[in-house]
Amino acid sequence: MVLKERLSLAASMVDKGHIPADIGTDHAYLPVYLVQKGICRRAFACDIKKDPLEKGRQNIALNHLEDKIETRLSDGLKGVGENEADTFIMCGMGADVIIHILSSCPYIFNERYTLIIQPMSKYYTLIEWLYKNGFHIILHRCTSEGERNYTVFKAKYVGKVKEFSPADTYVGKMDLQDSECRKFLKKEILKAEKRSLGDKSLLPLINELKEKLK
Ligand SMILES: C[S@@+](CC[C@H](N)C(=O)[O-])C[C@H]1O[C@@H](n2cnc3c(N)ncnc32)[C@H](O)[C@@H]1O
Repeated sequence: MVLKERLSLAASMVDKGHIPADIGTDHAYLPVYLVQKGICRRAFACDIKKDPLEKGRQNIALNHLEDKIETRLSDGLKGVGENEADTFIMCGMGADVIIHILSSCPYIFNERYTLIIQPMSKYYTLIEWLYKNGFHIILHRCTSEGERNYTVFKAKYVGKVKEFSPADTYVGKMDLQDSECRKFLKKEILKAEKRSLGDKSLLPLINELKEKLK
């Protein structure tokens, strides 16, 4: 299994020996890769819909990993018990869906779990939710596939609500010297500039972000 840049970056954040549950797995590329590479002994591949889960099941079977990767038809984390997995991967879904998944899970507010998240939209709303709910970002990187830019972050519950400004939710823990992070943030500033045509309250945020990129 060869992963493209987006999923490869997410996979690189999984700690060796951990047991991941890939939520919204679809094709199950991530769990197959993690088990095939020996990064994880076991994994869960979960999806809310039958057809994507079936695609995942077929990919798992094609790679002869049925005894190591369990598929679950599950809305978010509802189908994964609190002692079954220690890492929850949520890639390729919108921030609002990921926020809904996290806020519907009563056991996620615990330092024993690691979250690896790659939101497709409005990643800053997810970072705001994490900060407001006692999570810290411990690793934050960006990558691209052709013209598309992606951000991936790893978070843990620490039980302390972080003080933050709107710009902090855009920057997270990105290394602003890193070319991929700079490219990602520049595009986000452009999007915010477009929105600011109808919402002038975004202008101080845009100026602060531009200042940070200098
Ligand atoms: C675009 S695919 C992403 C697949 C893969 N994670 C990736 O990043 O390439 C999004 C998947 O999330 C699933 N999904 C959406 N909401 C979900 C939820 N609440 N719980 C579990 N899966 C969900 C969809 O059925 C779909 O298969």
